[in-house]
Amino acid sequence: MTYGGERIDWEPVKSWITDWDWLDDGWGENAIDIWNEVREQCPVASTERYGRAFMPVTMEAVRAIAQDTENFSSIWVNVARPDAPRAPAPPITSDPPDHHGHRRLILPAFNPKAIAAIEPELRRFCQSLIADIGDSPTADAAEQYSQHIPVHGICIVTGLPEADADLFRDWIYKNFQLAPKDNTIRLQVLTEMTQYIDALLKDRLKNPQDDLLTVVANAEIDGKDVDWDVKVGYIRLQIVAGIDTTWSAIGSGLWHFAQHNDQVQRLIAVPDDHELWSEATEEVLRYYAPVTMARKVVKDVEVSGCPMHSGDQTLVTFPAANHDPAEFERADEFVLDRKNNRHVAFGLGIHRCAGSNLARLEMIVAFQEWLRAFPNYSLDPSKKVTWANGQVRGPRILPVLTTG
Ligand code: HEM
Repeated sequence: MTYGGERIDWEPVKSWITDWDWLDDGWGENAIDIWNEVREQCPVASTERYGRAFMPVTMEAVRAIAQDTENFSSIWVNVARPDAPRAPAPPITSDPPDHHGHRRLILPAFNPKAIAAIEPELRRFCQSLIADIGDSPTADAAEQYSQHIPVHGICIVTGLPEADADLFRDWIYKNFQLAPKDNTIRLQVLTEMTQYIDALLKDRLKNPQDDLLTVVANAEIDGKDVDWDVKVGYIRLQIVAGIDTTWSAIGSGLWHFAQHNDQVQRLIAVPDDHELWSEATEEVLRYYAPVTMARKVVKDVEVSGCPMHSGDQTLVTFPAANHDPAEFERADEFVLDRKNNRHVAFGLGIHRCAGSNLARLEMIVAFQEWLRAFPNYSLDPSKKVTWANGQVRGPRILPVLTTG
């Protein structure tokens, strides 16, 4: 299935400082340049396209918002039309004090030991995708590789059926790239997901298994049964947070390495347990961080000199903060063996990514298997790379020549 065919037409951005739009065609491939240009002029950009909404581009402003749960609420975690239908997907959509109980409930599924145990299966899966490409001189590193790996991982952890992978990716595409401007699509995706998850959870009540679906179906917090729509929301979040995020991170890394064969050669010269592999993975996360979150402003507040008012929306532009030269030396350079890489690709504060162990494992295994199988691959100059815009940014079509 190809993602990116349908679209809704809207006016191109006139100014990234006063009229930003994360669904503009210019965003996907060029977002890093956009953030760098905005940062040279001001720390926080604005737009009126979704009601009033802000885009901070410095670490200072991003940190101030992410750590302030008094003035910024997570009930709205993406910038969309203010009248957009919203549904809970805790813990990401919850604020203190409720947030803690929701997070505690899902965290055990993602603890380091549980995730490390699935490494052999993830490796076998990556090898099988590569075997399917075989001796072909061309391949699509997104459609034939990066998009499948996170679905496999999340299905192992949660018990979601992998046979429905196309359905999950279709919902994700519509939810992130069409729904922010179109309430009908948003409602359609919400309704379809709710019905689907409802049936799965009801099944687990009757047929318990050793998976997160069963934990969620029977969830209690402080001895009290969790509301059913909240249980549905936990699983909705697994689908929307656990798939295109890592799909984008793996794809961006493969896009980068296709153009930097010297770095590929440095990596494949060292064993899998060498620190260079994790340093390179962290640098992909810093440089190409895929996830931009958002908050609803709930009290009048000022961020880096920019006044915001109750009812406004703001991005929490973690990827832009990762390019702030006030925070990182040689911020605009991809340094393969960067040390002390304190990037915020996984966010910061109470909502810091619950799936980071899984994401990191999927990325490192995916890179190791691909770069060792295709040590001289490069971008296919006869075809176009396409990028997802909006909240989760990364390549969706990534044509390569497998032998360079
Ligand atoms: C490279 C891949 C990933 C990136 C860059 C990423 C990024 C993020 C970010 C930035 C947040 C913070 C949200 C906020 O501040 O509002 C977050 C939260 C979260 N992520 Fe990830 N994520 C990735 C993969 C995953 C995976 C594989 C899962 C597994 C299901 C996952 C599950 C979650 C959950 C449950 C939260 C909410 C935590 C909370 O609210 O307490 N993520 N992620």
